[in-house]
Amino acid sequence: MSAAELEELKSRQQKTWASGDYGKIAWLTVPIADVLCDAADLRAGSTVLDVATGTGHVALAAARRFCAVTGIDYVPALLEQARRRAEAEDLEIEFREADAESLPFADASFDYVLSAIGVMFTADHQRAAGELLRVCRPGGRVGLASWTPAGFVGEILRTVSGHAPPPPAARPPTRWGEEGTVRELFGDGVSALTFVTAHVTQRFLSPEHFADFFVTNYGPTLKAAERLDDAGRRAFRDDLAAIAAKSNRTTDGTVISDWEYQISVATRV
Ligand SMILES: C[S@@+](CC[C@H](N)C(=O)[O-])C[C@H]1O[C@@H](n2cnc3c(N)ncnc32)[C@H](O)[C@@H]1O
Repeated sequence: MSAAELEELKSRQQKTWASGDYGKIAWLTVPIADVLCDAADLRAGSTVLDVATGTGHVALAAARRFCAVTGIDYVPALLEQARRRAEAEDLEIEFREADAESLPFADASFDYVLSAIGVMFTADHQRAAGELLRVCRPGGRVGLASWTPAGFVGEILRTVSGHAPPPPAARPPTRWGEEGTVRELFGDGVSALTFVTAHVTQRFLSPEHFADFFVTNYGPTLKAAERLDDAGRRAFRDDLAAIAAKSNRTTDGTVISDWEYQISVATRV
C-alpha cells in the first residue's frame, strides 16, 4: 500500500471513530481494561502508556493502580470524555491527541505500553506495532487486548465488510487477535510472548436492540449503514440481529452473549 493510500485510509478511519457515540459502545468493554492491566502485571509507580485510549478505560484502570499514566487517541471528543471521567474520579492522567502510528514520545519512555481493542484498528499494523515497541523500555511490557476473528466482534466486522466493503488496502483488525500475527508483528523485538483467550459478557434487550444500538452508536456499523440504500440497511440490520440471536445463551427474549478476545503480553528486549 502506498503512503498516500495509507493516509487516506487513516483519515477515513479517524472519521469513523469520531462518528456515532463511541462513549456508549465503550460501556460494553469496561471489564477488559482490568483484565489487561492484571495480565500485564502492572506495578504501582510504573509509567504506562494507553495507546488508542478512546474514553480512557485502560488509562483509568492503570491510574487506579497508582501508575503514572498517559493516554493517546486521534479523536479529540473521546479524549474529552476520558478527561471528564478522570476528573470525576480525581485521577491524574495526561490525555493527548496523537497518532498511534507516530507516537510523540522518545524511545523507551514507558515501563508498560498497553492497548485494549485500540491499536488493532490502526491503518498500518506493522508501523503501529513498531511504535508500541519503540516507546517501551527494554524489559518493559507491551500488552494488548484484541477481538478475535472467530469471536462475536470478528463476525460483526466481517458482516460490515460484506455489506459495505472496506478499501482494498484495509487489513482485518482481528488479525491482532491471532497468535501468529502478533508474533509476526513484534518479530524479534520481544523476548517472551504469552496469550490468553478471554470473554466479556454482554446483555441486550433483544437481538434487534443490539443491532439498532450498534447502527446508531458504533462508527464502523454506522458508517457502513450510511453507505447503503434502504433495502441494504434493512438487510444489514437483520444480519446484525441474526449474529446476536445466534450467539445468545438465553431463551427469555433478551440477549446474553460472550464476546471473545485475546490478551497478548510481550516483554520488550
Ligand atoms: C474500539 S475503540 C477502543 C477504545 C479504548 N481503548 C477502549 O478500550 O474502550 C478504538 C480506538 O482506537 C482509536 N484509534 C484507531 N486508530 C488510531 C490511531 N492511528 N491513532 C490513535 N488512535 C487510534 C480510535 O479513535 C478509538 O478510540
